Amino acid sequence: MSVGNSHKIDTSRLDEIINSYDAKKSNLIAILQKVQEVYRYLPEEAMIYIGTKIEGLSPATVFGVATFYAQFSLEPKGKFEIKVCDGTACHVRGSMPVLNAIKSRLDLKDGQLTTNDGLFSLETVSCLGACGLAPVVVINDKVYPQMTSDAITIVLDTLLKEDK
Ligand code: FES
Repeated sequence: MSVGNSHKIDTSRLDEIINSYDAKKSNLIAILQKVQEVYRYLPEEAMIYIGTKIEGLSPATVFGVATFYAQFSLEPKGKFEIKVCDGTACHVRGSMPVLNAIKSRLDLKDGQLTTNDGLFSLETVSCLGACGLAPVVVINDKVYPQMTSDAITIVLDTLLKEDK
């Protein structure tokens, strides 16, 4: 499996996390959640390390668990995680033009999830439960209602400026 950008793994930090969960196989999900919190995704090296460190596990089992649960990301996430809702209400009210405006503003090629500078990552999600506000975009935990191509471009420009 290839996960693109490789991340320098600090194994002492991983040991700390593993030990804080008693190095127990039954705590694997919690351990992976913590690792994802630290790196914003699950680096391949970290999964291999966990799989060899914890008794009763193997790297293959850790990969299996990580790919099974949607909450885990095997690709690096951006500092700003953009989620475009493509549930029915949002789709009907124009989430696709909004998505395309984001891709074009951030220069994301088809299939590319994270910008080269690691600042933004983009994904589509199913109904966020805010259909009255469709089309909805969420960036980190902030909800942007009734987005249009122009509006989202302004939002992105603002984030880019603030990040400087
Ligand atoms: S369809 Fe987008 S919030 Fe429900």
